[in-house]
Amino acid sequence: MADRKLPVARKALETIKPYVPGKPIEEVERELGIKNAVKMASNENPLGPSPRAVVAMQELVHKVHLYPDGSCHYLRGKLADAVGVGPDQIIVGNGSDEIIKLLAETYINPGNSAVMANPSFSEYDFAVNLMGGECRQIACVDFKHDLESMAKAITPDTKLVFICNPNNPTGTIVTKTEVGAFMSRVPEDVVVVFDEAYYEYVSHPEYCSGLEYVKKGFKNVIVLRTFSKIYGLSGLRVGYGIAHPELISWISRTREPFNVNSMAQVAARAAIDDEEHVALSREENQKGKELLYGKFEEMDLPYWPTETNFIWVNIKTDCRPVFQAMLREGVIIRTGDIFGFPEFIRVTIGTEEQNQRFIRALTKVLGK
Ligand SMILES: Cc1ncc(COP(=O)(O)O)c(C=O)c1O
Repeated sequence: MADRKLPVARKALETIKPYVPGKPIEEVERELGIKNAVKMASNENPLGPSPRAVVAMQELVHKVHLYPDGSCHYLRGKLADAVGVGPDQIIVGNGSDEIIKLLAETYINPGNSAVMANPSFSEYDFAVNLMGGECRQIACVDFKHDLESMAKAITPDTKLVFICNPNNPTGTIVTKTEVGAFMSRVPEDVVVVFDEAYYEYVSHPEYCSGLEYVKKGFKNVIVLRTFSKIYGLSGLRVGYGIAHPELISWISRTREPFNVNSMAQVAARAAIDDEEHVALSREENQKGKELLYGKFEEMDLPYWPTETNFIWVNIKTDCRPVFQAMLREGVIIRTGDIFGFPEFIRVTIGTEEQNQRFIRALTKVLGK
């Protein structure tokens, strides 16, 4: 066949590495000849979804020939009541991932920059690069956001600052005092994104939610939260943003008309009401955290106290062979090399049984 010409893609895409998705768990089991592998790699809720959300979806299943409510009317109303703002201050997305992308589409032109921490959640970098913007990644100090250096990195071309609080992959938070000092320095034309995907797990007394600033009337602050973590609905893809109505109105211009499917909308509404499931998930997470901390101490592996449902651990050896060996034991974890830290792993806190299995596998693999 004659060599045909390939159409040229946008220049911004040259810097983007295609996302390499993990293999389905069934495929990993088949290839390695193992059974009952456990995934402790994506910070999902090991208890599963709220039973109330499951019932709500079952009731809707015969109505999926209809388009979803494009405005998420009822879900926005419920979220607005739950957080104490108006419904016009909420935007719902196909996961909070989508809202990150909408933010970049709303604010980033080539020549603009965004400030974020390193290591932090990779979606910020992706979304900003996609729009041809420059990412300023500011090194964490002791795996915490260095808000002072992040404030200094803001220049007149900066449009967005991402504060991942608590931070993925490190589980650390920024405090009220740190956020206060940072906010007093940020120009009003820079949007500050508080990504609070793990908000419901936080118990630290010094924690500061960005919601405080939204409620004070700041027009340049947006808080992102999700139903993928404590609410156990990752597979449905539903997250939301809370901001001033004018900010929401600008971001909404980039949104597709039916971006949140109908199953996601009913399940999320039911999940908000299931306070018992949230409380149980938090309790189990706390127990798992204590168990894992104890084991890491016994194994002499430094870890960072977490305000989330995962732990960032220094395994003091190359994580890549460890990952492969853990896989053969049927335990899937996240390697630190993708965040630039090849001697680290990130493990999602599982059920008691999963945590024990993880520890048995890690002890064996590290020869402890
Ligand atoms: C910090 C952070 N933000 C956002 C997300 C994306 O969540 P969603 O499933 O709502 O897109 C994740 C998921 O891992 C996350 O860790």
